Amino acid sequence: MRNIASRIWPSTIWAGAGLAFGLAVSAVPSAQAASAPAMAGVCASCHGTNGISPYPTYPNLAGQKEGYLAYALHQYQTHQRLGQQAAIMSGVASHLSADDINALAAYYASLSP
Ligand code: HEC
Repeated sequence: MRNIASRIWPSTIWAGAGLAFGLAVSAVPSAQAASAPAMAGVCASCHGTNGISPYPTYPNLAGQKEGYLAYALHQYQTHQRLGQQAAIMSGVASHLSADDINALAAYYASLSP
């Protein structure tokens, strides 16, 4: 019994170490992406969970320039961007703080387009 255990344990430990190493390596690309701000849950219904919108007339956000995203959100918030669809975004943006806008812009810019 002890012999079997000593034969099984080392290989189990190595397999576990290999798995942990594999996970650490595969976690590197996502570690470079900004983590999703809580507010992104609201955006996902229209812009997709990965920033790719499922709707033909709603824009993708993934991979867009960070500065442009922050600028657009500010424009909606201050009603400088107008139109039927922009009105939807002005409503959403009215709930965002400056920190929310910066975090959301950094997050969507970090996603692959
Ligand atoms: C109810 C649907 C809906 C929700 C929820 C929503 N959006 Fe939008 N979003 C739109 C639509 C529609 C447009 C296009 C508006 C226009 O024509 O100007 C848009 C446009 C944008 C744009 C401009 C994109 C560009 O290319 O100019 C940004 C940035 C944006 N949304 C970010 C967000 C963020 C961040 C959230 C979450 C806080 C969010 N949106 C939530 C529907 C939505």
